[in-house]
Amino acid sequence: MSVDRLAALSPEQKQALLRDHLRRRAADGAGKRAPDFTRQSYDMFMPGADPGLGEIRRFNAWVESSIAAGRYTFETPRREAQRPENVLVREDGERLPVINVASYNYLGLSYHPEVIAAAKAALDRYGLGVSSSPIAGGTILLHAELEQALVDFLGLPGRGASLFTTGYNVNTGTLSAIIKPGGHVVLDAAAHMSLVEGAQLTRGEVHTFAHNDLGDLERILRGITRDGPKRILVCAEGVYSSDGDYGDLAGIVSVARRHGAMVLVDEAHSVLATGPGGRGVAARQGVLGEIDFFVVTFSKALGALGGAVICRRDIARYINWYARCRLFSCGLDPAVTGGVLQALRLGAADLGEARRARLRANAARLRDRLGGRVRLIESDSWIVPVIYGSDERTLLLTDHMQRAGLETSIVQYPAVPRHLSRMRLFVTSEHTPEQIDRAAAIIVEAARTFGFAGPDGTSGEGGSL
Ligand SMILES: Cc1ncc(COP(=O)(O)O)c(C=O)c1O
Repeated sequence: MSVDRLAALSPEQKQALLRDHLRRRAADGAGKRAPDFTRQSYDMFMPGADPGLGEIRRFNAWVESSIAAGRYTFETPRREAQRPENVLVREDGERLPVINVASYNYLGLSYHPEVIAAAKAALDRYGLGVSSSPIAGGTILLHAELEQALVDFLGLPGRGASLFTTGYNVNTGTLSAIIKPGGHVVLDAAAHMSLVEGAQLTRGEVHTFAHNDLGDLERILRGITRDGPKRILVCAEGVYSSDGDYGDLAGIVSVARRHGAMVLVDEAHSVLATGPGGRGVAARQGVLGEIDFFVVTFSKALGALGGAVICRRDIARYINWYARCRLFSCGLDPAVTGGVLQALRLGAADLGEARRARLRANAARLRDRLGGRVRLIESDSWIVPVIYGSDERTLLLTDHMQRAGLETSIVQYPAVPRHLSRMRLFVTSEHTPEQIDRAAAIIVEAARTFGFAGPDGTSGEGGSL
């Protein structure tokens, strides 16, 4: 097309032309060598000390080149609440209707009308923010109500709760308040980055045991306590966020107790999603009362933002003062606090039971539809990771999937081992069986196209990457 004719096109016509061009290029590219913008991974832009901020320049060049190729699929805004279906708006303005398995809104509570009404009521009464650190003057009555509601929900009378503005901060704040130089943190190898970073902040000694391996945990604890008792905090999770498997919490508690170690369990992905009354994996395994630090995040099944640690009341009070990210930061905002209180009420009641049953059924259906067709990680949970292997596939694959009508959550190195990149599918109670089936069909088709079909993630058919 001539330059003159191009200049005469409307912005919409130019967008359509660009889309057409990109689609043709994508089709041409199938089966060929991967384009350059795919030959980068997240860790490549991490180190850097030169005064010219070289890694930032290189990172931006990579983002720009993937945008120019029409393949930048991260940070794609959506038009609505995190419902099972949504519309994505890509960089070039293109709108893509998708089934949404990228959001951990497990029970759909983020958009429940009663949750929204409670958030609005709190907003009307207390305003937008609390404008102060919780210790200094940023505590509102609603905070105290939520703390008590969490303790009551877990059925742990006598415990206290400490609220934080993110789940991430619960972990960094709690670890750094409890463990100091001379103390020890023992992490499961699959622990979330907030626990890893929290452990680094303690300036105590940090140890890692092989994932869910009680023998390895025993060996490490024996080594630490060889010369006498020590302050030790063992950290595990209810459901691991990248693998979707369950922590062996009963086993961990029994090993930890033998060595006088305390136990922190992060139930970010399991509170309200499983267990009696939605009380999580520790409750399901019969050891809820044995957990010294029970971490709840409000961003998953509670549909909001923030979190809390439930622990001995005197310890919670200490954390309130000595978790630096809490003391030196503003308190939880009123609308979120009010909304979370209502989400907790609903999730603990019949509505929660019904939605947990649907969540289980949907997870089983998705795992059944994918089983034997792609490489999964053994579990029955609502986090279903599909391993696609190399980071080089990520942008081509996610672009392909979004265009085919599915949005997933991608995890790459260093969050998971190199070449075990995966798309996490977050099932919710609100997906219909038809949506689950359609999602599975799109994944199976993509796995064939990209060469990672089959139970071990290799189709042997030589896909495009
Ligand atoms: C296990 C785990 N803990 C903590 C967090 C951090 O929670 P938040 O996003 O609420 O800050 C996450 C986030 O995904 C998580 O998966």
